[in-house]
Amino acid sequence: MFAACKKEIGITLTSVSGYRSYSTQTNIYKKKLSKVKTKEKADEYVARPGASEHQLALAMDVGQKDSKAGLTGSFGKTKGGKWLAKNCYRFGFILRYQEGWEDITGYEYEPWHVRYVGKENALKIQEQDIPFETWMLYQREAALLEFVGY
Ligand code: DAL
Ligand code: ZN
Repeated sequence: MFAACKKEIGITLTSVSGYRSYSTQTNIYKKKLSKVKTKEKADEYVARPGASEHQLALAMDVGQKDSKAGLTGSFGKTKGGKWLAKNCYRFGFILRYQEGWEDITGYEYEPWHVRYVGKENALKIQEQDIPFETWMLYQREAALLEFVGY
């Protein structure tokens, strides 16, 4: 994906954070908590230890080389951030925490966080333009209907 971005628009994307252990996630959560003071607020930005997609090794935080917009909402306005949002599905990723989806995902807008779901699913999710939570609900519903014979 990074190679394709470089080739297509000449921007070098970088991995800022990939797999995280339980203790790494704990440290990230604690750091956010000390900054924002309440768990309620921290929960809007960082997953509790044990609940992050980074711990599954399926998620990656993406940055743009030589850009100060790393891990901020502004990344979504950079060339690399826009390319990522539009093209990550081609490589089996979805942009997980989008603007306007906060009430469904539970997290603030993160234009840098992609999650691997495989190319087939990523294409469908991108086409439907829905949060992963909604997609999972649809999947469960379809499986149930199939189970009861509809
Ligand atoms: N920032 C995302 C939600 C995480 O901690 O996994
Ligand atoms: Zn992330």
